[in-house]
Amino acid sequence: MSKVYLTTPLYYVNAHPHIGHAYTNVIADCMARFYRSKGDAVYFLTGTDEHGEKIKEAAGKENKEVKEFVEEKVKNFTHLWKELNISYDFFIRTTFSFHEEVVKKVIIHLFNKGDIYKEKYKGFYCVPCESFWTESQVKETGGCPECGRKVKEIEEENYFFRLSKYEDWLKEHLKNHSQFIRPKIRYNEVVGFLENNPLVDLCISRPRKRVEWGIDFPLDKNYVVYVWFEALLNYISGAGFYFEEERFKNLWPANIHFIGKDILRQHAIIWPIILKSLEIEPPNLVFAHGWWKVEDVKMSKSKGNIVNPLELISALESYNLKKESAIDVLRYFLLREIPVGSDGNFSWYAVITRANNDLANDLGNLVYRTLNMMEKYMDAKVSSLSREMPLEFKEIFLSLDKNYISLMEKGGFSLCLEEIFKFINIMNKYIEDKKPWIFYKERSYEELKNFLYSLLEGIRITSLYLYPFIPYTASYILAQLGVKKEEISLRKKRWAANEGYLISKEKPLFPRIDVD
Ligand code: ME8
Ligand code: MG
Repeated sequence: MSKVYLTTPLYYVNAHPHIGHAYTNVIADCMARFYRSKGDAVYFLTGTDEHGEKIKEAAGKENKEVKEFVEEKVKNFTHLWKELNISYDFFIRTTFSFHEEVVKKVIIHLFNKGDIYKEKYKGFYCVPCESFWTESQVKETGGCPECGRKVKEIEEENYFFRLSKYEDWLKEHLKNHSQFIRPKIRYNEVVGFLENNPLVDLCISRPRKRVEWGIDFPLDKNYVVYVWFEALLNYISGAGFYFEEERFKNLWPANIHFIGKDILRQHAIIWPIILKSLEIEPPNLVFAHGWWKVEDVKMSKSKGNIVNPLELISALESYNLKKESAIDVLRYFLLREIPVGSDGNFSWYAVITRANNDLANDLGNLVYRTLNMMEKYMDAKVSSLSREMPLEFKEIFLSLDKNYISLMEKGGFSLCLEEIFKFINIMNKYIEDKKPWIFYKERSYEELKNFLYSLLEGIRITSLYLYPFIPYTASYILAQLGVKKEEISLRKKRWAANEGYLISKEKPLFPRIDVD
């Protein structure tokens, strides 16, 4: 058993979570469930980013004390993760006192080491991005080079972290670890950026008179800590750094930081350098996924084009889907529709098409027809069946058996689902070709039994493969086959690895959704 430490970004607590946030957590959850199912010791961390001027401003707009405001908003996230069946192990908030203590200790340590220093700064500041820009950067676009919004001119003394000192180290690290950032296009983006832009030191303090809502800067009471600098530290504070050394030693390095491509530089440049300065190993992998868009515009609060996952689930429920099935439709759609690195366009039509074609038709029918035949022909009893795998299954079965784990480890979720559904459709075709009702009519009971056993075993193994993607549905199918919870494990993925079946047929999984 090996340890697997997975993280998501800490989302800004002020925004209402949308499909984009749901996406990152569904991907990470799929990975976490996969590794657990394989028998690994998973630690899955998610949470919220709660400091900074923009959180304070958002609270002000609602006439709320900022503490009260974040307490209320964090529930939008914990509630959504519960609904989406996100199996995180710990939810970290940057306002937790243990996190604040770690941040302070880190700053004192790096200051004593000489990697943090104080200096006067003149330039521009973008509040929504919480970023500094030079005059030349701002002039090019007339606003913030990241988001295009208005910037404020500022002049102040601040504390800086010596990013520049570690530029050569980072370049060397990237050269020797071409798998440090995935997909490849993001790796190339970071390497290209470093080639063309010498690193400048990072301002890690904010004057308290301008930004009040933050962690106290430990060396100087006139300042608070820059929100990005402290938020990144969650990945080590959340693993026990400084206060649970043993736990930290077991968990670090993180195996995968899942992020969106919007926050690549923070994770692939600033973060490894902070760690290097602390003499901690870099994470194994920064996995930057693409954006969900609506009509080719990135889904974001500022664009006002967000899709609320909970509203989508309610809409699906209004077409007679059980809530659990509606949730799995969303999870399935997100994982199947686009490869993790690409951008995708979100549309209601695309969701319905996936639900009807893949889940209702292919998977739902296979399970329902098979269980129906079990009742009709076998009185739902399974006895003395052959354990031979039909020739028709062999090619795809062996290929899945061989490739499933490596596909999942690479984050090839969409491709993996495609393979699983090939198997599902081979089973559907097997039913059509074999015409079991003829076996029944001709009293070929042995053949009928073998035929049904093959389908049950195929469905059982398929459900084990589907479990990380659509856990409710997979468990629901397995329960109808009498497979016990503790047997939902990839250790049981061999053909005929099951002790026996106890069939109990339930309602169909996914009714067809008919929209005009
Ligand atoms: O950046 N498509 O938080 P944030 C896909 N607090 N993913 C999307 C998305 C979209 N349209 N919109 C958002 C922050 N995301 C910082 C992070 S980490 C130490 C601090 C997802 O609330 C995606 O994961 O703006 C993206 O990276 C993240 O939300 C940004 O969340
Ligand atoms: Mg953002």
